[in-house]
Amino acid sequence: MRFGTSTAASSLERPPGPNGLPVVGTQVSFLRDPYGFMTGIAQEYGDIASWEDPGGLVYQLNHPEYIEQVLVGKNEYYIKGEQFQSILRPVTGNGILNSEGAVWRRNRHLIQPAFHPQRIQEYATMMTEFTLEEIEPWSDGEIRPIHEDMSSLTLKIVARALFGVGIDDHVDTVGSALEDFMLASETLSHYVLPPSVPTPSRRQIQRSRERLDGLIYQIIDERRANPTDHGVISKLLEVSEDEGERLSDEQIRDEVVTLLLAGHETTALSLTFTAYLLSKNPAVEAKLVAELEEELDGEPPTMADLADLTYTERVVKESMRLYPPVPGIVREPVKPDVVGGYEIPPGATVRMHQWVVHRDPRWYDDPLAFEPDRWTDEMEADLPKLAYFPFAAGPRRCIGDRFAMLEARLLLATIYQRYHLELVPGTDLDLLATITARPTHEIPMVAHERA
Ligand code: HEM
Repeated sequence: MRFGTSTAASSLERPPGPNGLPVVGTQVSFLRDPYGFMTGIAQEYGDIASWEDPGGLVYQLNHPEYIEQVLVGKNEYYIKGEQFQSILRPVTGNGILNSEGAVWRRNRHLIQPAFHPQRIQEYATMMTEFTLEEIEPWSDGEIRPIHEDMSSLTLKIVARALFGVGIDDHVDTVGSALEDFMLASETLSHYVLPPSVPTPSRRQIQRSRERLDGLIYQIIDERRANPTDHGVISKLLEVSEDEGERLSDEQIRDEVVTLLLAGHETTALSLTFTAYLLSKNPAVEAKLVAELEEELDGEPPTMADLADLTYTERVVKESMRLYPPVPGIVREPVKPDVVGGYEIPPGATVRMHQWVVHRDPRWYDDPLAFEPDRWTDEMEADLPKLAYFPFAAGPRRCIGDRFAMLEARLLLATIYQRYHLELVPGTDLDLLATITARPTHEIPMVAHERA
């Protein structure tokens, strides 16, 4: 195993890498064991590796400096690329997660005010209240489907915060449509067959989209009828009316679905992984609960409490290190770039995996251990910049990073103040590698009420 050994670099050669099977390249190995595959590439070939797949040349970057070059330093050389965009397009269309250039810039600018630090603070009370409502019906000793619970909670929160709507009656429609879509985008045929081939998974995505759209257009119409509202949809509608560059209802729909999907799936995963890790590390849970008791004195957490909940924050950070909800990022160069001494040609696929870098022993001692206490100020100051990048970096960095950190801490504190969650024995955490790291099956946990 040789995480990080550099190979002799020459811009004329390709970096070393695996030989794939004819026709499907390395896709079969990837889909059989995606996390083992990406980790194995770093261990076997070092900081930069390359191979040929049916879709073209692939480069995997495993060094924080190389990743910083692509996401930050030379970000203008790169786009998200067709491989990533074709997966999301059927559901999120041309929303900001998927768009490029002028459309992306304008819409990111329009949406950004909803994520202003001051605005985000206003969401805190609602986040805690929604969590209390969610766990209110739980009874002592009951088995809860934690991933499903966290998904429905974070979906309700993002819909209320950004669009001012309560979607309690529709949470199943939205949640299951988004879930179908995430699962359908995972199959081999999705990556190997051209987009025009109507595979079963693509038909499933189309059906999910139809179910979702009826509701989204209804929400847009409601916001249009309520011009005093200041949520994201109103902002997008205001542009249409005041500045003359009308956004079509479909463009607004794309942004709404993007924010619903990106704004709930990842935070729900982060909370699910944190609950799993806490159940496996009782000493960490004990320390977390001791902090909650000392700082909150039985009261629900507020925005003002967060500065004192330092261990809670470390638990969230450490959980996102070991289980980054977005396990990898993909880019495509539009002009040749030289990374680590190798030229990467336009059209290639560049992959950078949080999953791999966050577990690299060069940056983290005992990397597979769940140790929130490692996150001291000194440790963070010494950490290479992109050795931790759960929210990516550069201009396409997650727009919801602060929102997510606020939400994850508040929800975790509210739930763990009241419940100890015990993993149902025999439950494994196996992960799919779609755009996010989704568990292959539900994570059932017994909710024990704290005395
Ligand atoms: C733990 C929670 C979250 C994680 C780990 C996460 C991670 C990420 C990552 C890695 C990206 C970059 C993807 C890429 O460049 O290919 C991203 C983009 C994005 N995220 Fe998040 N995210 C989280 C929560 C949220 C929330 C709460 C929202 C909204 C409420 C959100 C909205 C977005 C949007 C709209 C983008 C696209 C930004 C752009 O391209 O301009 N995310 N997120």
